[in-house]
Amino acid sequence: TQNWQGLIHAYNRWLPVSDRTPVISLCEGATPLVPAPALSARLGRGIEVHLKVDGLNPTGSFKDRGMTMAVSKAKEAGATAVICASTGNTSAAAAAYARRGGMRAFVLIPDGYVAQGKLAQALLYGAEVLAVRGNFDRALTIVREVADKYPVTLVNSLNPYRLQGQKTAAFEVVDVLGDAPDWLCIPMGNAGNISAYWMGFQEYKKAGRCRTLPRMMGFQAAGSAPLVHGTTVEQPDTIATAIRIGNPANREKALKVREESGGGFAAVSDASILDAYRFLGREEGVFCEPASAASVAGLLQRSEEVPSGARVVCVLTGNGLKDPSTAIDHSEATFHGDLDPNTETVAKVLGF
Ligand code: F0G
Repeated sequence: TQNWQGLIHAYNRWLPVSDRTPVISLCEGATPLVPAPALSARLGRGIEVHLKVDGLNPTGSFKDRGMTMAVSKAKEAGATAVICASTGNTSAAAAAYARRGGMRAFVLIPDGYVAQGKLAQALLYGAEVLAVRGNFDRALTIVREVADKYPVTLVNSLNPYRLQGQKTAAFEVVDVLGDAPDWLCIPMGNAGNISAYWMGFQEYKKAGRCRTLPRMMGFQAAGSAPLVHGTTVEQPDTIATAIRIGNPANREKALKVREESGGGFAAVSDASILDAYRFLGREEGVFCEPASAASVAGLLQRSEEVPSGARVVCVLTGNGLKDPSTAIDHSEATFHGDLDPNTETVAKVLGF
């Protein structure tokens, strides 16, 4: 079988690239669509749930799909540096792809609100990391101004190539299912990804690759739900730090997606995010980060509206290993520490 060479290679005719585009790739994409039997059984009525496990991309999140495009196009245009604001995953992806392309990566993060694995990645990949006192929204305002004034390319989802790359996830879903799902459940922060999926489904429908389009169901954490409430949130807060965003960059696009797809947005509590996060781990064997579990929390919250026999895809945007401390603090698993190192002790603890 032929080696997978990344999503630009696989989907180049759907993407704004040419022979002159230097493709900077880590072989991202082609992530598995994993059946979720426990979740399907919990919903009942013949509903079939699949998980798009995009945390299996090279840097552990869906951001790699956008970053291979954004960084390749930046390189093509002669850029020598990229910049982004990030709650963590974008910074990890920007760092990896920029360095692979021989460019500098400047990343602004909200000081104290980036999960440990993501910070580790940005540092190890060789980004120049600037932690600002203030939230993501503030950091995004700053990087937009810097990119306007100085010779550095913005690689947040305002960069149109980001969404072009990310739309390939919708292609992959259809390529596996043979059609679009009935519902697509997805977490929203800046709402770039929901916009990208919708673009992908629409392009495939137009080309006759799928017959139907999904209802796009976007979920935000209750403490950071500007798209649900229709107003900017000044002090966003949630345990799902990836989507701790009060002023989404793609607000208009997201509202259009909801309208055109007959979809819906809803807020999910941190408690329900953690329930879904644990359920996925314990019942499906799938470890995602808290923000990703918002898609499943949302599905469970809105499950009565899912038609019987429907096919549902929940997008798991990031790998659970990104945020080990949330897993350790909230797993609710039994941990037996400080044991005497002998067989009797172990057997006794195991109840034998
Ligand atoms: N899930 C994860 C794991 C994310 O990291 C993000 C966004 C989202 C969902 C939301 O996607 O913004 O396209 O609606 N993370 C950005 C970052 C903000 O900086 O890594 P969106």
